[in-house]
Amino acid sequence: MRDRLLAAEKVRAIDWRDGTLYLLDQRALPFEETWLAYKDAAGVAEAIRSMVVRGAPAIGISAAYGLLLGVRQRLAEGGDWRASLEADFAVLGEARPTGVNLSWALNRMRERLRRLKEGDDPSQVMEAEAQSIHDSDREANLNMAQLGVELIRRYQGSEQTVLTHCNTGALATGGFGTALGVIRGAWLDGMIEHVYVDETRPWLQGTRLTAWELVNEGIPVSVNADSAAAHLMKTKGITWVIVGADRIAANGDVANKIGTYQLAVNAMHHGVRFMVVAPSSTIDMSLASGDEIVLEERDGSELLEIAGTRIAPDVEVCNPVFDVTPADLIDVIVTEKGIVERPDTAKLAQLMCRKRLH
Ligand code: MRU
Repeated sequence: MRDRLLAAEKVRAIDWRDGTLYLLDQRALPFEETWLAYKDAAGVAEAIRSMVVRGAPAIGISAAYGLLLGVRQRLAEGGDWRASLEADFAVLGEARPTGVNLSWALNRMRERLRRLKEGDDPSQVMEAEAQSIHDSDREANLNMAQLGVELIRRYQGSEQTVLTHCNTGALATGGFGTALGVIRGAWLDGMIEHVYVDETRPWLQGTRLTAWELVNEGIPVSVNADSAAAHLMKTKGITWVIVGADRIAANGDVANKIGTYQLAVNAMHHGVRFMVVAPSSTIDMSLASGDEIVLEERDGSELLEIAGTRIAPDVEVCNPVFDVTPADLIDVIVTEKGIVERPDTAKLAQLMCRKRLH
């Protein structure tokens, strides 16, 4: 399956070339494919904040390249470059709060920096580290797709109708996706009849990005209002809800795009299985439960305007963009290291000690 998955990799959102980071501007999709070029850490931090690049793994990878740009710039400036680099760590680290992949990637870069030896070229070494973070996310996507597809086959076999939320595909990762990677893999294996995609208010990741990725590949897809999900579970024979994650606490609580929690509640009510697909870099064993996860709130304009046009009176806005799904609503978490059914603290701790399965 690995070769077929690799052959199906068509979209890339992050490109590191000749000392420049290029990001596909996700704000302009699906109508315009615009690549923006970045040469410094502050620019990359702004790209993360303003959603040029989004999706927890893609944010982590971009931050690693952003830090690399910082290393190059600080070295060129001379003086105590390691001290000045702290400003780049800070600006990148603060770009978005919920996805742990951002701080995970920066911690990996910091650790590599710490292990630099006399005579090492910092620029070269740190470039290799950023590229390895990128490559390993791609590898993780492949492993997760294989494990997720095996799981679907084990439980239900062919003819699956799945529902997904937000965008967890090539645009959100270094490969071809987490949840969407499993869906792609299951499609390649002839197991997917139809994919329902929540529009994912307010930023519309589902309508604009996931629909674009799936339509481009000829996977049968329809977009629905977020509020249609329970009705679709009742009437359309949905067998799986498959979503990604931005941070998973030690007990298996999952922070993901706002609306995921209500999907899990509805899935349990309707007997629909609920799968979370995320690389182990999304698991944050330092947080005992989801109560400790910082959930980002974004500007009210995301709700009060559509495509820049005001649609509401002068009114207060409550715009949390992530929520926490309690572990006991989750059937299975799929990572590149293996799967955890009915997640809890002991099972996740065991998983994190494991090496990769594939
Ligand atoms: O606000 P976004 O678009 O960055 O939110 C993205 C999500 O919530 C995804 O589901 C999550 O990052 C997993 S992506 C592989």
